[in-house]
Amino acid sequence: MIEHPTYNYKVVHQFALMTVVWGIVGMLVGVLIAAQLAWPALNFDTAWLSFGRLRPLHTNAVIFAFGGCALMSTSLFIVQRTCHARLISDKLAAFVFWGWQLVIVLAAITLPMGLTTSKEYAELEWPIDVLIAVVWVAYAVLFFGTVARRRDKHIYVANWFFGAFIIAVAILHIINSLAVPATLTKSYSVYSGTVDAMVQWWYGHNAVGFFLTAGFLGIMYYFVPKQAERPVYSYRLSVVHFWALIAIYVWAGPHHLHFTSLPDWTQSLGMAMSLVLLAPSWGGMINGIMTLSGAWDKLRTDPILKFLVVSLSFYGMSTFEGPMMSIKSVNALSHYTDWTIGHVHSGALGWVAMISIGAVYHLIPLMYGRKAGEMYSVKLIDLHFWLSTIGTVLYIVSMWVNGLMQGLMWRAVNSDGTLTYSFIESVEASYAGYVVRFIGGGIFFAGMLVMAWNIWKTREQALAAGISPDSESAPAREALA
Ligand code: HEM
Ligand code: HEM
Repeated sequence: MIEHPTYNYKVVHQFALMTVVWGIVGMLVGVLIAAQLAWPALNFDTAWLSFGRLRPLHTNAVIFAFGGCALMSTSLFIVQRTCHARLISDKLAAFVFWGWQLVIVLAAITLPMGLTTSKEYAELEWPIDVLIAVVWVAYAVLFFGTVARRRDKHIYVANWFFGAFIIAVAILHIINSLAVPATLTKSYSVYSGTVDAMVQWWYGHNAVGFFLTAGFLGIMYYFVPKQAERPVYSYRLSVVHFWALIAIYVWAGPHHLHFTSLPDWTQSLGMAMSLVLLAPSWGGMINGIMTLSGAWDKLRTDPILKFLVVSLSFYGMSTFEGPMMSIKSVNALSHYTDWTIGHVHSGALGWVAMISIGAVYHLIPLMYGRKAGEMYSVKLIDLHFWLSTIGTVLYIVSMWVNGLMQGLMWRAVNSDGTLTYSFIESVEASYAGYVVRFIGGGIFFAGMLVMAWNIWKTREQALAAGISPDSESAPAREALA
């Protein structure tokens, strides 16, 4: 196989395909656990099929496998194209790809077995944590080594966001995972009590801020201007909101610990910083959406652009909702309810998944010697867009209704001070919402299958035309990209 003469597209292509594969797997588990919440018999009285075991499998699969592969594929593509430099080492790139897949497979085996640290989004046991740290450092060397090789002095803003995401995730992962191993499959955190909770949610919130936000803003800053064929609306705004975002995100973690034994002033500080966070978050959304100035007509015919723009709207929505939920009096109602789950998925499905899907549709044809976005069927992309949008809306609306209802039912008291509703009554009342969420999730998932089919056909067409990925159609590709 002849390698691409200028860039390493092999690793970009591999990660892009695995984005779709892990997206399908992670969302299928999501649909299953959504069904279990409506119909508990689907736990089948089997430990490894139970909600408690599959839920962390879902979160790890969608965030780190689906989201992680999307981030690695796009960052390694963008860093090469914007720095006009090939990745520093093909071997290191292969190590990052296979190492990351190994982490995912180990997670998929150990989580259903019930092996967990019990720290949310950091459930994996210490040997896997060590492997993650090694692979992540290799990824950092690959990325920053390539930035150092760049031909221009200037570093494109997308790389700033990816750089912050890579450094922050390394620090967060290593500090939060520090533990004393007891056996190969069991360890004890070096932190305890309130400090443990604080470190965990400093990690947890910054996983949102850097993994699910900064990295995806990197994607946004490359693919929105490319797909809209317009320059970024304001380069100055991108720089200002970059520094504001990374400076403020790290303070907001305590909003996950309102009304706990965490010192009260820390909770209030977390709340204040979360409110401030609205500004840099919207800076990114506005910059992305305004990039379409003069190109709005393209939305009529370009479903990839629709994915990208609608994802920005969901980003704006969830980053408005988050600061509101961090207000203590609002959190007193929303915490523990499905409102949080609705908020999570307006960010996760609406923002993270939709921007990734848009980016992959732009990218995949390039890997097969076609023009950016030239997939086998544009109609199927449009169908996918509608399935994703309708699925997301059904998911989040049902969870808002459930969340508000649960919060209000739990706090309702009779005139004699007794509770108006028992807990089980609130569970019963949530049933309809759970069914609607299951349907919404199923629709979103169906969209992913449409995507897989479209990619398969694009690949088949390319192979029939004698173009194999990673092979020599590269000069043509250069001209097209
Ligand atoms: C077909 C799509 C999806 C379905 C049906 C689905 C379903 C679910 C369900 C049922 C839960 C458990 C809720 C609970 O504990 O009450 C959950 C949790 C979660 N999901 Fe999804 N999900 C989907 C896609 C995604 C994606 C794409 C992401 C991230 C990129 C994601 C991230 C999460 C997170 C972070 C949680 C934990 C929320 C929390 O603890 O507050 N999900 N999901
Ligand atoms: C300005 C931005 C944001 C702020 C201030 C914010 C704030 C919050 C608040 C207050 C909660 C509820 C905490 C609780 O009651 O336990 C929460 C939960 C959550 N948010 Fe956000 N949010 C923001 C953006 C986002 C985005 C864009 C995403 C996803 C892409 C996201 C993902 C999550 C997740 C996964 C949780 C659930 C954590 C858990 O308990 O497991 N957030 N957020």
